[in-house]
Amino acid sequence: MTPSIDAATDSDTGTGTATGRSAAVSCTRLAYSFGETTAVDGLDLSVGEGEVFGLLGPNGAGKTTAIRCITTLLPVPAGMVHVFGHDTAKEQMSVRRMLGYVPQQLSADSGLTGRENVALFARVFDVPRKERAARVAQALRAVDLTDAADRLANTYSGGMVRRLELAQALVSAPRLLILDEPTIGLDPIARTSVWEHINAVREATGMTVLVTTHYMDEADQYCDRVGLMHRGRIRALGTPEQLREGLGERRRTEGAPATDPLPTLEDVFRDIAGSGLEDQSGGFRDVRSTRRTANRVG
Ligand SMILES: Nc1ncnc2c1ncn2[C@@H]1O[C@H](COP(=O)(O)OP(=O)(O)OP(=O)(O)O)[C@@H](O)[C@H]1O
Ligand SMILES: [Mg+2]
Repeated sequence: MTPSIDAATDSDTGTGTATGRSAAVSCTRLAYSFGETTAVDGLDLSVGEGEVFGLLGPNGAGKTTAIRCITTLLPVPAGMVHVFGHDTAKEQMSVRRMLGYVPQQLSADSGLTGRENVALFARVFDVPRKERAARVAQALRAVDLTDAADRLANTYSGGMVRRLELAQALVSAPRLLILDEPTIGLDPIARTSVWEHINAVREATGMTVLVTTHYMDEADQYCDRVGLMHRGRIRALGTPEQLREGLGERRRTEGAPATDPLPTLEDVFRDIAGSGLEDQSGGFRDVRSTRRTANRVG
């Protein structure tokens, strides 16, 4: 896993602002509110082409809202979002053509077979008719669902459903794959399997990945760089190693013994998000949506 050059530049300046044309995603002072609730509050974020970027943060931090702005599912009322240099406000269709998206909520139809689900996405994403059957089969193969392809999705396990959703997102051969909690509610083996499939496609195609997760071990292991989001903004940015070492260094200057173990990414998360997590999180709606996602895949 090689940190991108953009990554180093961004974390050096500490701003996370877009640094150049090679950015797969760049958000500049992005803001979004639901009525009185400010979900995204001046977000600056740059994801380099080819990197796996993890957007972390407590419930209600604004991750899904930011992602929905990047995918053009929500408008951008303030600030700017570019995907491979295309403005999401002005070039919606060009942006959508480059994206694969696995939402936090269910996106597979349980009354269709795996193959029918992926074929539906192939049609929606304008995969040329002549190529469709082959591309659907290829996407199903990429996530190891060939044998189960003609079974109804409601007979799938949670891990299979998540892999099916991955195939749906991959069928259009996206340059940018966006995954909102792709492994929530899965057992450790199914989680690893989802990541192995993502990585295999990524190695074969050079696709960029933007992912949210609450599993710090996953972020540590699979992300080139992570941004810790809290109250609508990135509060810490860097490689998992940089963030862990940064906190260790700070603790030492505050008097912690040099023999203390290196902080984990979870320590970094707690340090940024603070102890009053319950007070600051999004409340009932967030718990409900997270549970719903966990239940249906679990
Ligand atoms: N459709 C909506 N209507 C009203 N408020 C919303 C809506 N969607 C999100 N919010 C609010 O916006 C804030 C950010 O929510 P968002 O779903 O983006 O957070 P998140 O970081 O994805 O959280 P989680 O980790 O729980 O998925 C929260 O306070 C949430 O309650
Ligand atoms: Mg979310």
